[in-house]
Amino acid sequence: QKEIISLAEITQFRSAAEEFNPFDWYKHHLEHEPIYYNEVTNSWNVFRYEDVKRVLSDYEYFSNVRTRTTISAGADNEEGQHNSGRVNLNSDPPEHRKSRSLLSAAFTPRSLKLWEPRIHEVVKQLIRDMGDEPVIDIVKTFSSALPTIVIAELLGVPPEDRFLFKEWVDHLFLPLPKDNIEDVQELKRQAAKEYYDYLYPHIVQKRLNLTDDIISDLIRAEVDGERLTDDEIVRMTMFILGAGIETTSHLLACTFYSFLYDNDQVYAEIQSNRDLLPNAVEEMLRYRFHVAKMDRTVKQDNDVLGVALKKGDVVVAWMSAANMDKDMFDDPFTLNIHRSNNKKHLTFGNGPHFCLGAPLARLEANIGLGLFMDHFERIEPIPGFALEENLTPSAAGQTLAYLPVRVFRR
Ligand code: HEM
Repeated sequence: QKEIISLAEITQFRSAAEEFNPFDWYKHHLEHEPIYYNEVTNSWNVFRYEDVKRVLSDYEYFSNVRTRTTISAGADNEEGQHNSGRVNLNSDPPEHRKSRSLLSAAFTPRSLKLWEPRIHEVVKQLIRDMGDEPVIDIVKTFSSALPTIVIAELLGVPPEDRFLFKEWVDHLFLPLPKDNIEDVQELKRQAAKEYYDYLYPHIVQKRLNLTDDIISDLIRAEVDGERLTDDEIVRMTMFILGAGIETTSHLLACTFYSFLYDNDQVYAEIQSNRDLLPNAVEEMLRYRFHVAKMDRTVKQDNDVLGVALKKGDVVVAWMSAANMDKDMFDDPFTLNIHRSNNKKHLTFGNGPHFCLGAPLARLEANIGLGLFMDHFERIEPIPGFALEENLTPSAAGQTLAYLPVRVFRR
């Protein structure tokens, strides 16, 4: 079991809403304490763009092999834990290469092309399901549903099982709370077991009839003459679920929040020029994806960041603070969908672990938002929406549990 480092001890946010809007905290650190040691958690914290990029990518000094971590949500149980040489993304090059290559087989440009029409169908169905309601909860009807259903579809899970699937995923990646940890652990264990028992025979079946889905791709994948076993494929899919669902849900929910509350001109502007959408998605990843962070463990004593780091120290790289570094982004605290370099945000990481699902996340966001805009000419906030009461802790940090939107159909 890894020790979970409590980020709350580092950030000291006074409310969920403050954590959802952590701009002042970033600003303070970028200007006054760009690298600092937090004694309570015994960790280094790094905020500036170049430093964060270095910590994420320089695996000679900063390792992905950990005994302590800030990641409090995951398939943290027997079924999800096992590391074989072939399923071990929490490793450094050269060991990391094998798992990465095997998993990459499912995320090729060819797969992406095949997925596009299927994502279209999923989104269209979600929009049909919204019916004629004048006010919709964007979280329930759209942002949290879309990524789970898309992944279930891409894995090749029968449509009638999607809701089972969603329930397991919701339980598997619950963040560990401060109290009643045992109850949550038990829920996760149960979900992991049920998921495993469900998927395993499914994979055995698939071997007899390979098609165009992620599981078939993982069955076909081969590196240095090695292939994944059925058991390893289940674990790989758990990794994909953990990495790809709450993150994409968070992006979508935060994007709608941004349209409603950060800048109420943006939705209309994109409506009038759809070519702006891809860049708007990048700006949302830069400006509205809080609080992205990733930790590494110091592999050998060094001072590459200008401070004396000792082997074994934990370094937390605050990506969404780096995304506000004025040395990289002009006027960084302004949401600007026309920004030319916003794709340089670090929200998908950097270096050998750069998000394997980034093209899929981008595709889901672009198709999802594009079709939504085809259908809904205009959106408005609901007066009196109380942010603080409608946030919830998730694997991705404080995220929206409910976001009502008044919609105007074409
Ligand atoms: C890795 C963010 C969506 C699969 C990462 C990393 C980040 C990240 C920061 C690097 C972790 C590190 O440096 O240790 C995000 C965000 C997403 C997203 C912000 C959505 C907005 C997805 C999706 C999938 C996915 C949709 C797949 C379906 C992965 C995998 C890795 C990864 C497999 C591990 C790669 C490796 O260690 O080599 N993601 N991700 N992600 N992501 Fe994503």
